[in-house]
Amino acid sequence: MIKGPSRERLRRYWDKSARSYDREIAFLERVFLEDGREWACRQASGDVLEVAIGTGRNLPFYRPDVRLTGVEFSPAMLEIARERASAVGRQVDLRLGDAQALDLPDAAFDSVLCTLSLCAIPDERRAISEMKRVLRPAGRLVLVDHVDGSPAWVRVIQWLLELITIPLAAEHFRRRPVRVVQAEGLIVEFSQRSKLGIIERVIARKPIETTT
Ligand SMILES: C[S@@+](CC[C@H](N)C(=O)[O-])C[C@H]1O[C@@H](n2cnc3c(N)ncnc32)[C@H](O)[C@@H]1O
Repeated sequence: MIKGPSRERLRRYWDKSARSYDREIAFLERVFLEDGREWACRQASGDVLEVAIGTGRNLPFYRPDVRLTGVEFSPAMLEIARERASAVGRQVDLRLGDAQALDLPDAAFDSVLCTLSLCAIPDERRAISEMKRVLRPAGRLVLVDHVDGSPAWVRVIQWLLELITIPLAAEHFRRRPVRVVQAEGLIVEFSQRSKLGIIERVIARKPIETTT
């Protein structure tokens, strides 16, 4: 297994990347993500938590009536999310925090959304388990991320990329969060892959009988 950076190095990496993130992601978003942000935000309603909100690129796409909380690990990314929230005129409870140990109560949200971040959070299983914990029974988990591609040649390239990106930034290319979501006992209602299988959209529901 390739070893990722320490917590401190990871925070420094995202803090340093914050001011260039929007510019750098914009092109990749147009090519790979298409309307993924709009799609994800349309699925969210009520009390909504966005995990690893980054610079708040999803903020313009939420319905006006959602009550939004955003958690982010990097203070510099969070600062840009605050600027964006004010620019788009949206009230958001923005908090510094760790997706792997959310400082939020059980069963507090109707929807939990996470885009392009389960690839970057060191322990994706703990993060998904935390997302489940904070969801209300019958609440919705909405994910959009880049995942293990379908053709073997894509997976070889992704494997090579990870030799650099995991030690540098804990950035994974060969994860399949949907499998973890299923293993956590959430009910997958929708999953769709596009772009050689690299982009995956998932909607899953927390079963009514569980509370954590
Ligand atoms: C590729 S960016 C995606 C940002 C945003 N979700 C988006 O769609 O543009 C990954 C983000 O995950 C955040 N992150 C990494 N590890 C985290 C953790 N343990 N808890 C919360 N956020 C984390 C990084 O700080 C960064 O903002």
